Amino acid sequence: MTEVRLDGATVTVPVDGSPGGRARTILGPVDLVLTQSRVTVIGANGSGKSTLLRLLNGLVTPTSGTVSVDGLDTVRHGARVRRRVAFAFTDPISQLVMPTGREDVELSLRRLHRSRTQRRVAAEQVLERFGMVRHADQSVYDLSGGERQLMALAAVLATEPGLLVLDEPTTLLDRRNTLRLRALLDSLPQSVVLATHDLDLALAADRSLVVDEGRVVFDGEPAAAVEHYIGLTDAP
Ligand SMILES: Nc1ncnc2c1ncn2[C@@H]1O[C@H](COP(=O)(O)OP(=O)(O)O)[C@@H](O)[C@H]1O
Ligand SMILES: [Mg+2]
Repeated sequence: MTEVRLDGATVTVPVDGSPGGRARTILGPVDLVLTQSRVTVIGANGSGKSTLLRLLNGLVTPTSGTVSVDGLDTVRHGARVRRRVAFAFTDPISQLVMPTGREDVELSLRRLHRSRTQRRVAAEQVLERFGMVRHADQSVYDLSGGERQLMALAAVLATEPGLLVLDEPTTLLDRRNTLRLRALLDSLPQSVVLATHDLDLALAADRSLVVDEGRVVFDGEPAAAVEHYIGLTDAP
């Protein structure tokens, strides 16, 4: 089980063009210890969900405070953290950098398997596991949205990280592919932290966080979190 710890983690960004280099706090301070196997994050657009998720693998570093994964600080040990924490973006095309899925999965495996032959064998196994062999040599641009999402997940999970972070993974998917993705997530051995506007998906967790204006305003049971979020949205 992966443990993520945020201690007073705060993210500030410069306010463009402001005299004296003023800064705006977009997240925090956040204090959290995440050990559950399924954690969901909900909140309005612009509330800070993506910033919070990006802190978890060092894509964003805290301006103050610290973030660590299994005791590894995301700033001092960024590369090691990223080997433990896979990150999946909403739009899989921003993730699939190679012409075909197979090449992308092989790229992910380059550190684990130095030998090209071994890498090919391992990639084939990963593609099989995700049911993507028949799409492996197709241009990633010719895959359907759902297939592309699965291929991107196959690529980030190829190295078997301990934690998978997903930023709104179903936003671009239809209902059928959303259900497929949910089934896949249910079957994964990894811990999962995901941000979503799909409240059904948000409920499928051990713990939910509600983010509002850069703060974690609720932390607890998913049904209560959804209720809290709806209360925030419906407030006059
Ligand atoms: N690198 C950045 N520079 C300036 N502002 C940013 C940056 N990243 C995010 N923001 C701002 O911080 C706020 C929270 O963004 P984000 O974490 O993407 O929210 P969410 O994912 O909940 O929609 C938004 O107002 C966004 O415009
Ligand atoms: Mg976002």
